[in-house]
Amino acid sequence: MTTDTTKDILSHVEAGVMTITLNRLERKNSITAAMYGAMADALDAAAGDAAVRVVVLQGHETIFSAGNDIGDFLTKPPAGMDSPVFRFLRGIAAFPKPLIASVCGPAVGVGTTLLFHCDLVYAGDNAAFSMPFVNLGLCPEAASSLLVPQMLGYHRAAEALLLGEPFMAEAALEVGLVNRVLPPLEANGVAQGVARKLAAKPLSSLVETKRLMKKGQAALVLQQMDEEGKSFGRMLGEPAAKEAFGAFMEKRKPDFSRI
Ligand code: COA
Repeated sequence: MTTDTTKDILSHVEAGVMTITLNRLERKNSITAAMYGAMADALDAAAGDAAVRVVVLQGHETIFSAGNDIGDFLTKPPAGMDSPVFRFLRGIAAFPKPLIASVCGPAVGVGTTLLFHCDLVYAGDNAAFSMPFVNLGLCPEAASSLLVPQMLGYHRAAEALLLGEPFMAEAALEVGLVNRVLPPLEANGVAQGVARKLAAKPLSSLVETKRLMKKGQAALVLQQMDEEGKSFGRMLGEPAAKEAFGAFMEKRKPDFSRI
C-alpha cells in the first residue's frame, strides 16, 4: 500500500515495515509544517497499526534534509506545542516500535537531531551532520541540548552546538550516532534489510526492550523538548534569528555585530 500523504512525504507499508521518505529534492528535503504534520500522522498510524512492526525514515542518496524550511518557518512559525513540528518531535521521541534512519548527504538541524531518537542509523559516506542553531540565532530543539552532550561528551557537543559546523559520517560512527557507514546507494537498502530482520522478531519483545532502554529518561527528554521549544519559539521572533533568516533569503552572510 502506498500513501502520498503530501507530495513531499511518501509512506508505504510492506512486509511489516513502514517506510517514510522525505521527497522534496528541489528544496533539499527541507521540512514544512505540512510535512511535519504528515510525518507525525504516519508515526501515529504506525504506532497503532499491528501490521507495522518497524519504521524506516529515509531521504535521497544525495540529501537527507536541509532542516526546517526557512521560508515556511518565517511565514508560519510554530504556534504552540500542538503545532506539527512539536507533534512530530514528540512522536519520534515516544515512538514505541523500532525506528531506523538511513541518512545520506547533508542532515541539517532537525535532520540531525531527529537521529538521536532513532534506534538504528545507517549513513552514506557522504553524510554531513550539522546543528547550526546558534548560527541561525536560535537554540537546540528535539532535546538535542540533552542528548548531544550525552552521546558526544560535553566538549564535542559544544563544538557541534556552539560552532554548528558539520561533522562527517566517520566522525558520527566514532561517537556512536550511526551504526554503519555505507556507499550512499546502499544505505537505504541496508536499512530495509535490517528493518525486515527486526520485523520478523516478536513485536512485544522489541517494544518492551526499547521501552526499558529508554525509560530512564523518557520524561526528561519530553521536558527538555518543551523547554527548548519555548525558547526556540521566542527566539524566532528576536533580532538574531530575523537577521539570520533574512540573510538566508537574500543569499548573503548574516551580520550579528550589532545584536
Ligand atoms: N529552507 C528553504 N529552502 C532551502 C533550505 C531550507 N532549509 N535549504 C535549501 N533550500 C533551497 C535553497 O534556497 C535553494 O533554492 P533556490 O534554488 O531557489 O536558490 C535550493 O533549496 C537548493 O539549495 P542549495 O543551497 O543551492 O543546495 P546545496 O546543495 O548547495 O546545499 C544545503 C545544500 C542543505 C547544505 C544548503 O541548502 C543549506 O545549508 N541549507 C540551509 C540549511 C539550514 O540552515 N537549515 C535550517 C535549519 S533550522
